[in-house]
Amino acid sequence: MTARMESPRLERPPGFVFRELKRAGARIPASRKGREKACPELVEGWDSRSVLHCEEIPLPRLAEQFGTPLYVYSATAIRECYRAFDAAFHELPHTICYSVKANSNLSILRLLAKLGCGFDVVSGGELERVLSAHRGAAKKVVFSGVGKTRAELTAALKAGILLFNVESESELAALAECAQATRESAPVALRVNPDVAAKTHPYISTGLHQHKFGIPIRDARALYARAASSKSLIVRGVSVHIGSQIIDVSPFGEAMARVAELVRALRSDGYKIEFIDAGGGLGIAYEKANAAEFSESVVAYARAIAEPLRDLNVHLLLEPGRSILGPAGALITTVIYRKANNGKQFVVVDAAMNDLIRPALYGAYHEIEPVCLDDAAPREVVDVVGPICETGDFLARGRELPRVKEGDLLAVLDAGAYGMVLSSNYNSRPRPAEVLVSRKSVKVIRRREKISDLMRNEV
Ligand code: LLP
Repeated sequence: MTARMESPRLERPPGFVFRELKRAGARIPASRKGREKACPELVEGWDSRSVLHCEEIPLPRLAEQFGTPLYVYSATAIRECYRAFDAAFHELPHTICYSVKANSNLSILRLLAKLGCGFDVVSGGELERVLSAHRGAAKKVVFSGVGKTRAELTAALKAGILLFNVESESELAALAECAQATRESAPVALRVNPDVAAKTHPYISTGLHQHKFGIPIRDARALYARAASSKSLIVRGVSVHIGSQIIDVSPFGEAMARVAELVRALRSDGYKIEFIDAGGGLGIAYEKANAAEFSESVVAYARAIAEPLRDLNVHLLLEPGRSILGPAGALITTVIYRKANNGKQFVVVDAAMNDLIRPALYGAYHEIEPVCLDDAAPREVVDVVGPICETGDFLARGRELPRVKEGDLLAVLDAGAYGMVLSSNYNSRPRPAEVLVSRKSVKVIRRREKISDLMRNEV
């Protein structure tokens, strides 16, 4: 008997789990006959094999049908994360406004809208997506962002959104002007910058005074007075967002304590503050994640946010993005070549930094797992790289993986948020297709781009 090396299985239930697939001829329950075709690797001397599935669908089947690189999302995982998030805040009146920037596919927006979710948008484009995904969505839309144009403000006024999170004195003046011109009144919160440090990557930390975001909290009262003096603006809330991928929840509590203090001061100034928008930012465990830990972290997050707001009697708005979508998506890629340069091992795959830029841009870590597990495979340290002509084009560096061969499939986990939305056509690479799985059903929610799509607007 060969000694088998214990390899940890990296799973993301309920979205991505390993299931045994058996070869024809091996004892297969009648209900499962035919599935072996889904894993072509099984024919080469395997009776059964652990194959990564999205819900009930083996990923090799999706790769065969739709090609790679391919984004695959689990509808059940999205629903469960949304519900866990919602449940964690049950003690406070609240609305979850999913942050569209994390993944703006129309089918995903529709799925969330059906659960009662609202949306946080940061551009006219995101607003249009939300409105076309769900007709009644506007009344649960908050509009964030430091550079909203007059055209975007006007579109949002006409749509009748819930709240404008205003980030500067100039924007406040522009909003008042647009509201007057459209004869609409604009519900306003000022996004305050609480000067709280969040432990995260510097590119996605936003709550310090040196960042471009928000209004210094000490200047807020004066600006609220200005807002209240405009007939077309209605002061309705205070908003804050301190950054993204924040694991230690204490900075959320600190920021909320400062916001709570401001709300008391504003109320004593005579303003009606109904909403506190706590922004997004809850991090996920990219390494060794498990569903139980997510539920615990969302509960700890809810506690940190809610505690300072006790007795304030406000309606809380939350703008999670990553924590709802991240673990629900994976990027499936095929090994094109193996190569060794002076003994350093490279696995060259068909997904690249244009498909998933997080490793290149933030040095982000994503777990990578062979789709068909071979527990006997020796482990080796490799760089997983794409075909793009940049040294920064890697999905993982110095990563220990079971040895894979050319043609094998790999799954890059936790790619549901800030994956496809940040993709580009660099090196004239068409962007991947996206599919949404719900138990046994598979829907293409975005077709793979063709080279002709890339050239369409060029003259
Ligand atoms: N609200 C506002 C105002 C935001 O700026 C953001 C994210 C969110 C909510 C959602 O934050 P989340 O819950 O997803 O952390 N591309 C980066 C992340 C950029 C986040 C930008 N703002 C990444 O891949 O890590």
